[in-house]
Order: sequence, then C-alpha cells, then structure tokens
Amino acid sequence: MSDALPSELAAGLEATASRRGPLGSPVYYFNETGSTNDVAATLAEGGAAEGTLVLASTQTAGRGRLGRQWHSPPDAGLYASLIFRSAAAAPFLTLAGGVAVAEGIRQATALPVHIKWPNDIVISDRARPSRRRKLAGLLAEASSGADGVLHVVLHVVLGIGINIKATAYPPELADKASSLETELGRPVDAGAVLGETLAELERAMGSLRRGDAARVLGRWRELAPSAFGSSVEADVGGERVAGVAEGIDDSGALLVRVNGRLERVLSGEVLWT
Ligand code: BTN
Repeated sequence: MSDALPSELAAGLEATASRRGPLGSPVYYFNETGSTNDVAATLAEGGAAEGTLVLASTQTAGRGRLGRQWHSPPDAGLYASLIFRSAAAAPFLTLAGGVAVAEGIRQATALPVHIKWPNDIVISDRARPSRRRKLAGLLAEASSGADGVLHVVLHVVLGIGINIKATAYPPELADKASSLETELGRPVDAGAVLGETLAELERAMGSLRRGDAARVLGRWRELAPSAFGSSVEADVGGERVAGVAEGIDDSGALLVRVNGRLERVLSGEVLWT
C-alpha cells in the first residue's frame, strides 16, 4: 500500500525510537498523495492506533488553515500526519503540537524559532524582529461521533507541514515564508527534524497524560513572545476589531485588549500590525 521510506527519514525515526513512545509507529510513506491528513483520517476510521504516522514526499491537495492550499512540492518539505485517540489530550493537542514542532526544529537545527498564534512556526528577521517569516504550520482535524446523547471526539489527526527547502513555497511568498535551509544556509537533515519533533510531541503528550497541561501552556507562552504586547486585528463576535494581544488563556484562545475590555479570539485570521 505504501512506498519505501527514504533512508534519511528512517534514520531520524531510528535515532529517536526510545524517546517518541508510540508516535511514528507504524509509519506509512507515500511518494505522492492527496493530503496526508486524509490518508490518516481513513486509517483512523479503519482502527489504526494512536501514533500512526503518514508521510508523503509531495501532496497534490495539501491544505492549510482557513481553507487555504498548502504548497507541497516533491522533496521540499516534511508533510506529516499523526493519529491521536486520547480524549483527555484533545483540547490541548494543537498547543502541544506547536510547542513540539518549535522545540523539534530548535533541537535539530538550533534555529531560534517561535510560535505565532494560533500555531504558525516563525523566525524573526534579525534586523527587524517584528518581521516574521513562516517556516511551518499545523492543522488539527477532529472526527466526532454520537455516544448516546453526547458528541465525542473519536480521533484527531494532527497535520504538520515544515518547509525544509526554499522550493517548498512559491517565490511570491518569500516576504512571508521561509525554509529551514534558507535560514541556515546549509542542507538540513529532515529525518532529524522529524524525529526530534516526534520526541518533543511525546514529551508534551506525557505532560497532558499526567494532567499537567500547565507545563505545555507555560512552554507555549515562552515560545510565543508575539502573543504579548503586539498590536493585532482580529474577529471578535463577528466583528473586526483592533487591540493589543495579552497572551492566551488556558484553553488556548488569544486574549486581546480592545477599548479596555479583554476579548477572547478563538479562530479566524489575525493581522499582526
Ligand atoms: C497552516 O499553517 O495553514 C497549516 C498547514 C498544515 C499543512 C500540513 S502538511 C501535512 C498535512 N496534510 C495537509 O493537507 N495539511 C497538513
């Protein structure tokens, strides 16, 4: 059903096998697929275990947040989707994922990446730190079903896209996007980025399993300095408002001070001015 896993990715998984718990086993690799999130959702519906990993060299229908396309040309980025089934972890999964991707990239490359709410992984311009370029993004998609009168989450697919090479994004996005190799000026071991990200995700999941969401939230806040004090425009109650970001609450909502009132931003496009 799947294709042979490239040796670089296999080596990255092997090197981190003792630190990534169930994450990354089994692994399915495709030379080409529509969206790894769709493949993972189909596998989850067929009973695939928590931690099942789907990877592709290229996606013909890669998608991002807010219905956007996620450019996924061959051998340019990491396109990965993981299946989760633990209901307790679901509310914090995207926050844990953001922390893990940021930490994984830091471990594998030493690049000082940050998180930008809700879950963009960015790098700041050295000369102008308020200018940021996106290196990676996450897309969590839950499938729910009825259990009596209750609606329960059956599984969550966490999709991760990381720009490894400059070919991962179209040149016209070069003022907003970047890649690990562009930032480092040298080739990057995509297997190490994958393995370290999974190891960090397992660490964050361990905290959530122990009921210690506070550690994950605390680390998210440390890694997201722009969530504190930046001027933003966001959707609040169906209206576009301007205000100042004051961090995230314990559910992950962005807090924005608007005309003296603290508003919660749950979704939608936030413009960082
Ligand atoms: C975003 O920042 O908008 C989220 C991007 C998520 C992209 C990844 S690539 C692997 C997985 N498959 C998809 O179709 N999307 C996610």
